[in-house]
Amino acid sequence: MLFAQISDPHVVAPPGKGELYGVDTADALIRALTAIAQIRPHIETVVMTGDLVNKGRPDEYAGLAGVLSAFPFRYLLVPGNHDHRDTLRQAFPAFAELQGAGFIQYTAELGPVRLVVIDTLIEGRHDACLDETRLGWLDAELGRAPAMPTVIAMHHPPFKTGLASFDAMPFEGASAFEALIRRHPHVERIICGHNHRAVQRRFGGTIVSVCPSTAFAYALHLEPGQGFKTSAEPPGFQVHLWTDGQLVTHTHALPPTLTQPAH
Ligand SMILES: [Fe+2]
Repeated sequence: MLFAQISDPHVVAPPGKGELYGVDTADALIRALTAIAQIRPHIETVVMTGDLVNKGRPDEYAGLAGVLSAFPFRYLLVPGNHDHRDTLRQAFPAFAELQGAGFIQYTAELGPVRLVVIDTLIEGRHDACLDETRLGWLDAELGRAPAMPTVIAMHHPPFKTGLASFDAMPFEGASAFEALIRRHPHVERIICGHNHRAVQRRFGGTIVSVCPSTAFAYALHLEPGQGFKTSAEPPGFQVHLWTDGQLVTHTHALPPTLTQPAH
């Protein structure tokens, strides 16, 4: 079994109709999905870990839906800090797991692995939260299948990365989340986005893996005051391969979308 992870596509319009920081983000997403479609064995499922669009607007989600519908994948969508829950729901009425009210949290079966999506969004803000309601749901969900290897998908990484501008945004509930994960050793991996870079860290006895953006990278700025700067490093996606009872993560780079160094 293998599945792909795309993160932070930040779609702003249909392809050819809009740019963000000089990047046609819908076209960049198409390039990623095209590359995923060429991988063998065939990939059926693409997990998208948030910042699906840039401002949470209906027209942006319409652009995203148009791109996704051109490919045959099963998409598992996760909200990020640039998303808006109800507008996302309305753009994908056939995605039953997104519907309802409140947080977007659900479980999907991926053959030998369960994938549990959790919602770290505080709507209208960029920082993150896992409160008692969300953690309580996760605890119960993980407890339902303790023998099944489980991947948790969420937008914000639950630790300080050293990327100073990201670290300035708090993650409320991160300590309680780590204690919860430690009680569920069948959590094989936590997959995230948000940083627009590949980052890994040990967390609660498991591994957190952060996927690059398909649109653009943020620079490796480790000191305060450097702000969020785009970088000419290549965008990319990840492929998670279940083999020998373990999850192996591959990062696939895409052609650069920006030609200037960090600015
Ligand atoms: Fe993002």
